[in-house]
Amino acid sequence: MRPMRSLLAGVFAIGLLAAPSLSVPVRAEEEIQMPNMGWKFEKLFGTYDLASAQRGFQVYSNVCANCHSMALLHYRDLSGIGLEPEQIKAIAAGVTVPQGTDDQGAPKEGPATPANQFKSPFANEKAARAANNGALPPDLSLIVNAREGGPDYIYGLLTGFVEAPGGFKMQDGMYYNKMYPGHQIAMPQPLQDGSVEYTDGTSTSLDQEVRDVVTFLAWASNPEMVERKQMGVRIVLFFVFMTGITYAVKRRLWSDVH
Ligand code: HEC
Repeated sequence: MRPMRSLLAGVFAIGLLAAPSLSVPVRAEEEIQMPNMGWKFEKLFGTYDLASAQRGFQVYSNVCANCHSMALLHYRDLSGIGLEPEQIKAIAAGVTVPQGTDDQGAPKEGPATPANQFKSPFANEKAARAANNGALPPDLSLIVNAREGGPDYIYGLLTGFVEAPGGFKMQDGMYYNKMYPGHQIAMPQPLQDGSVEYTDGTSTSLDQEVRDVVTFLAWASNPEMVERKQMGVRIVLFFVFMTGITYAVKRRLWSDVH
């Protein structure tokens, strides 16, 4: 009985050891190099580069918004990247949205206000898929939190459109991307050098455009990050202060005990 049991245990242990090493060679081939961009906003006390986030909003509105919604954002939220109320009003007014019905009951349209949600490019999911080879462009409101690797992954994705390696079988209407899992994505390369025109003289290289739009998307996913970090600092300072007070009180109370 005894030897049988230890034999079984031994086989089981070997199985446990072998299992992960068996799967490694298969996965190693698929290993994708995640870029490490050292984003300022990911540092301990880091904040968003607001000028970059504003340019990123321009990239989103000029390019990405043709296919992707950001339905969790309202125009007034743009104050979070440092836009002034007047600028926000002007941005919203440039967008036409449904506005109830007219006197005859027909649907009416008019300029948006800062209280409106970001306008979605498609009326519904079917329309979105029909325009995108059957694929659904995901809403980008929370995309940086929704993907492993967050901002680095999205940087890699938007700069990862390259020629498919020889022998790689592409499906119709798909594009090769070195960062995307499986390497075939239904999104055509959205940004190239000079896809937008910046008014602040910043270079419009692909790298810069992608950094800017990723900064904007990171802010959209975590608009309260800076406040959270500042609150953390305040809490730590408060505890340091309280420790000092407690120590001083203790010394005072016990000062006549020898
Ligand atoms: C012509 C339409 C189109 C444009 C323009 C476009 N996208 Fe996409 N995007 C898509 C589609 C379609 C998908 C879904 C791809 C799939 O499922 O294969 C997608 C997917 C994505 C994804 C998700 C990838 C994943 O890991 O699932 C991200 C992030 C993204 N797009 C970001 C952007 C950004 C940022 C821009 C602007 C710079 C942009 N897209 C412009 C159509 C577009």
